[in-house]
Amino acid sequence: MPKKKSGKVTAIKPSPKSSFPSAFFPVIYVLFCFFRKFASIIPRPFSNIPLSGRTRSLIEDARRDRESGSSSPGPSRCGDSFVFEEEKSGKVTLNILFDLKNEKNAGFFKAGKVFETFEAKLLHLESRPSRKSKKSGGDDLEFFMKCEVHCTDTDIFINSIKRVADDVRIVQEEKIPWFPKKISDLDKCNHLMTKYDPDLDQDHPGFSDPEYRKRRGIISELAFKYKHGDPLPVMEYTPEEIDTWREVYRTLGGLYPTHACRQFLEALGQLESECLYGEDKIPQLGEVSAFLKERTGFQLRPVAGLLSARDFLASLAFRVFQCTQYIRHPSAPMHSPEPDCCHELLGHIPMLADKEFAQFSQEIGLASLGALDEDIEKMSTLYWFTVEFGLCKQNGTVKAYGAGLLSSYGELLYALSNEPQYKPFNPIETAVQPYQDQSYQPVYFVSESFEDTKHKLRQYSSTIQKPFSIRYDPYTCSMEVLDEPSKIQNALGQMRDDLKILHKALERLGQK
Ligand SMILES: [Fe+2]
Repeated sequence: MPKKKSGKVTAIKPSPKSSFPSAFFPVIYVLFCFFRKFASIIPRPFSNIPLSGRTRSLIEDARRDRESGSSSPGPSRCGDSFVFEEEKSGKVTLNILFDLKNEKNAGFFKAGKVFETFEAKLLHLESRPSRKSKKSGGDDLEFFMKCEVHCTDTDIFINSIKRVADDVRIVQEEKIPWFPKKISDLDKCNHLMTKYDPDLDQDHPGFSDPEYRKRRGIISELAFKYKHGDPLPVMEYTPEEIDTWREVYRTLGGLYPTHACRQFLEALGQLESECLYGEDKIPQLGEVSAFLKERTGFQLRPVAGLLSARDFLASLAFRVFQCTQYIRHPSAPMHSPEPDCCHELLGHIPMLADKEFAQFSQEIGLASLGALDEDIEKMSTLYWFTVEFGLCKQNGTVKAYGAGLLSSYGELLYALSNEPQYKPFNPIETAVQPYQDQSYQPVYFVSESFEDTKHKLRQYSSTIQKPFSIRYDPYTCSMEVLDEPSKIQNALGQMRDDLKILHKALERLGQK
């Protein structure tokens, strides 16, 4: 099991040999708290969040994050203006950061006097050596204070603090969870869930097979070492693994013509005609990734196992699909408690070759970036009932497009029988629909078309509360946070250029 990286955080504890006088112990203590606070808000990839279990869906993982509040809020940043939280009582909460010269504690006591004068209620206090002081070798301190003051006193209170302290700034409490800004940041989106790992799950078909577990370990290690830009690992599958693939391929292949949607069948046909897919070889990620890249810009990267909901959805925003390379245990070819290459390559890949579906998948990912835990849970539920278990209408009949269905013989038959309930896809309802991860879904959502589903998802995503908008830049494969007028102007300029090209094309067509 891959180990997570630990953040380099140093906790400063009071020491009996400390040269500080005892009166400074409270300051040392808040220093400790300060560093401890920073330890909890370091970027996710470097935080030492313990690995936790999950069911095979992203939803439970997202729900756990929401309920525990364990998702890291990400790095804070300093803004240029004070942040106010309006209180009904006529008071506001201020978060202030300032430096104090350590000249016999005079600055500290003067600041305290200001608080006393304005009857400011201190809610939180932390300190650490001042950054400027560190450079100059001094011993000044930097303080963070959260306090409550009367609205009417705010300006004069701040000005009074400025008279006794240096470099007064606000600390904008950044509550936006960390998210990758550039495609290489996906190297940090590697938080694995391990409940169904064969090393830990006693019910896993491979749990009591040391050879299988060893093989899984080798494949997982390759994925964990992978960095963006590396060539995708080439796997030499064993004859036994190919036998498993063959059985799955043949069994599901018999159902596809009658049960799979048109887009899936078209892409599967292309994959087979290009000799990438067939029952006698397990497709290689590099070849499949090149196939997708040519059609929709999607690409693959290897993943060592189940990813957290946030990390998995974030990858989709970059048109990156995190794909396992290991295969299910040979004793249970038609069942896997976790995603394996049969699920990914048969269920997901053909659909990702469709432009409309690819756009839909990316939009789920984009909506997840920086979203709060409760919204991640909703986006995971939407993903579950569409990308994994979605149905769609085609020529008056219902067909499957969800990867969970297209990689499960039993559920594919069941989903298109008369037994389950069908509901039209409606993001508001779908996002809160209870799901089933231990047996077949009691309810499936039916899309009118991918375009219609994408349109509805876009409308739903716009209701997710975020203090910023994001635009994906396909040239640099990076996220542009549209938080300045110049960035919006630049984006508009690019759109204007594209519109000119389309306008010219229409003119030329009209001339014919
Ligand atoms: Fe999946």
